[in-house]
Amino acid sequence: MAPCRLPVLPVALLWVLASSSSSPSTVAPPRDLQITDPGLLGSLDVEWRPPPHIQTFNECTVKYKFEYRSTGDRDWKVIFTRKLKLRVGFDLSRSAEVRLQTLLQGRCTDDVEVHSDWVYATFQTSPQGNLESEVQNFHCIYHDWEYLKCTWQPGLLTPHGVHYGLYYWYQGLEQALQCGHYIQEQGINVGCVLQNLSQAEYQDLNICVNGSAAATLLRPLYTTLHLHNLAQPSAPEQLVLSLSAAQELLVAWSPPGGRAPPHCLEYEVQVAEEDAGEAAAAWAIVSTQMETALTISRANQSHVSCVRVRGRTNIFCADQGFWSEWTQACFSVSRKEDKQLFILIPVILSLSISLIIFMLIGQCKKRREKSRGHWVSASVLGCRGHGKQVQPRWVPPGFGI
Ligand SMILES: *[C@@H]1O[C@H](CO)[C@@H](O)[C@H](O)[C@H]1NC(C)=O
Ligand SMILES: *[C@@H]1O[C@H](CO)[C@@H](O)[C@H](O)[C@H]1NC(C)=O
Ligand SMILES: *[C@@H]1O[C@H](CO)[C@@H](O)[C@H](O)[C@H]1NC(C)=O
Repeated sequence: MAPCRLPVLPVALLWVLASSSSSPSTVAPPRDLQITDPGLLGSLDVEWRPPPHIQTFNECTVKYKFEYRSTGDRDWKVIFTRKLKLRVGFDLSRSAEVRLQTLLQGRCTDDVEVHSDWVYATFQTSPQGNLESEVQNFHCIYHDWEYLKCTWQPGLLTPHGVHYGLYYWYQGLEQALQCGHYIQEQGINVGCVLQNLSQAEYQDLNICVNGSAAATLLRPLYTTLHLHNLAQPSAPEQLVLSLSAAQELLVAWSPPGGRAPPHCLEYEVQVAEEDAGEAAAAWAIVSTQMETALTISRANQSHVSCVRVRGRTNIFCADQGFWSEWTQACFSVSRKEDKQLFILIPVILSLSISLIIFMLIGQCKKRREKSRGHWVSASVLGCRGHGKQVQPRWVPPGFGI
């Protein structure tokens, strides 16, 4: 019993201290919390008024703790502010939820933070169109940090004569804009190319793909993109392979041209070593790195080494990205045995050629003897010794040598 009673004393003391001073132990929540949609495809305006009689708490600061999420998100995002208005991003295909409380702290509270109850508000765009009419497989790639290409497929429930539109907004634009360059398939918009988006890098880019067909409206798709996470650089350039004095393979390349910031790139280097016997060995990763040069030891003294390099955005600039195409180069190393082989081959070749020529000449001579049979001389049959006469002999027709 005794150990349980011990903590009661300080708590009671604190309570006596707090009630003895005239400081407010409670504060009212903010008033008139409301959410409005300025038509920016996901960024909503949230406004409120301060709690009543807040001016009476002098020598204290009033702050607000604002939390928000789209329905279904597990976590709330938190903002502490002294302002009475915020613009925050939501997924408009779900409801927006916000909650807000007043925080009071300073001399009037003896520096203890006093907070009010929460006030809540929600917002939902009026649901429009059948869920199955929403476009499918929407995805985007930010090519070389130069242009954004988004593509989609018509929804499962697509009425005849459907027309899709892509709209976008980012902070800095006064209003949502429509795509100016659609990609079409059989007269239907199935993609969009957006250029000149450098202002939209490292911030929210709100996108909406909506559509209509004759009388019916389709379910719009809302999404918020982060360009730096969708970037795909061009392939690395000027890949050069050479051999060091220590017989190591030196690999060097240049970052791709274009707008991709070189400090934002990392590279994957793969090598395939080809032995004399095997046709082509498999590619093996040798390095993932930010530098644009690499030394690879040739442990197996292979005959031909092929190296390929590709790039993508590194973790210092993005959470994710897409790999570029490969740039590939091969390097053939001639070994000592090979050098001997290179000398032998022409010798063998010329010898065999002259042999063939001699044989052909011999054949021609034979053809000329167009008799029913022919005489075979000792030189053709082969002779045992020089100068020794051998009687020519008769060979019946059809018996060659
Ligand atoms: C690119 O956008 C900027 C504003 O963000 C604008 O001033 C400029 O004219 C645009 N350039 C092109 C080629 O559209
Ligand atoms: C699509 O969205 C844009 C931007 O919100 C809007 O101006 C346009 O009227 C919508 N179109 C349809 C067919 O709903
Ligand atoms: C080198 O040879 C060893 C053993 O033969 C083999 O396991 C290894 O994969 C080879 N390395 C390369 C790069 O071909």
